[in-house]
Amino acid sequence: MDTKKSLVILLTNVVVFLLLSTTVHSCLPSDRAALLEFRAKLNEPYIGVFNTWKGLDCCKGWYGVSCDPNTRRVAGITLRGESEDPLFQKAKRSGLMTGSISPSICKLTRLSGIIIADWKGISGVIPSCIENLPFLRHLDLVGNKFSGVIPANIGKLLRLKVLNLADNHLYGVIPPSITRLVSLSHLDLRNNNISGVIPRDIGRLKMVSRVLLSGNKISGQIPDSLTRIYRLADLELSMNRLTGPIPASFGKMSVLATLNLDGNLISGMIPGSLLASSISNLNLSGNLITGSIPNTFGPRSYFTVLDLANNRLQGPIPASITAASFIGHLDVSHNHLCGKIPMGSPFDHLDATSFAYNACLCGKPLGNCKK
Ligand SMILES: *[C@@H]1O[C@H](CO)[C@@H](O)[C@H](O)[C@H]1NC(C)=O
Ligand SMILES: *[C@@H]1O[C@H](CO)[C@@H](O)[C@H](O)[C@H]1NC(C)=O
Repeated sequence: MDTKKSLVILLTNVVVFLLLSTTVHSCLPSDRAALLEFRAKLNEPYIGVFNTWKGLDCCKGWYGVSCDPNTRRVAGITLRGESEDPLFQKAKRSGLMTGSISPSICKLTRLSGIIIADWKGISGVIPSCIENLPFLRHLDLVGNKFSGVIPANIGKLLRLKVLNLADNHLYGVIPPSITRLVSLSHLDLRNNNISGVIPRDIGRLKMVSRVLLSGNKISGQIPDSLTRIYRLADLELSMNRLTGPIPASFGKMSVLATLNLDGNLISGMIPGSLLASSISNLNLSGNLITGSIPNTFGPRSYFTVLDLANNRLQGPIPASITAASFIGHLDVSHNHLCGKIPMGSPFDHLDATSFAYNACLCGKPLGNCKK
């Protein structure tokens, strides 16, 4: 009798345990349903990334889906079209995945990462409901064909660290709300059709180290507030329609290493401090910059790239340039410079193309100066 009773208790416990383990260890049915709606709007015929999206437990074995181990809620979707995976290497075609991102992705309210990158063919708009995913830290949709605008209230994503929407067909403006993203460390909107101005208060992004906006149709002036971002290491604004002067305080920033402003309509003179700053990669080519090259080089000047070509620079190449500790690549061609090229170690390896198409530069590596 007693053994029978304890056997019943044991069996009940086993059944309860099994029930518990299936519920505890499988994903939320509504998360699973949202993932399947998301999948239904995409078409990926070559690799079969979605072949694994079957069974009840979307936290187990579903390619690219990750869950919070405690809550079993879907926390990440990571689908990259360019991958080391031999499966992908085999299927290197353009437009690997087509379709669009279903707004049902926003039902995954615990998402902290959405990486749907380099599929070349995914189009449609970025669902504006992503503004309502408060845990989102990483949004990476680089290398697709998304069009439409950047969701206006993206600034609600206060935990966002990485926003990468580069290489798409986005248009419209940089939403002013973006300056509320106090956790943002990486902003990449390169190669879209974004117009309008850079928000004046972009300097509120105190955590940002990379601001990459090249290859758009951004106009207006470069906001001074950028120079107050202590962590900013990489600022790329090339190939836009920026006007006005270069803020002089760029030369006073402590970790700024890359400043690419080439291919704009920037005018005014080169701030002297830029040439003896922390910047090692400076491209100002293809602008409307006037005046002479400041005579401010010194031992702090260390350039892997110093490209000042295609501007309206006058006067000589300053004598102090020989005091620079290193200049790997120099281009001052297509200006109105004149005078004898200084001699010294930063110049020994440069050839004539660095100095071509000026008013009257002379001396090695160009021809002798006339007496
Ligand atoms: C930008 O817009 C122009 C004209 O509206 C279009 O021809 C071009 O393909 C677009 N470029 C991108 C990267 O979307
Ligand atoms: C500087 O920018 C110009 C114009 O965008 C580009 O052609 C050139 O290659 C860049 N210079 C270097 C050294 O990368």
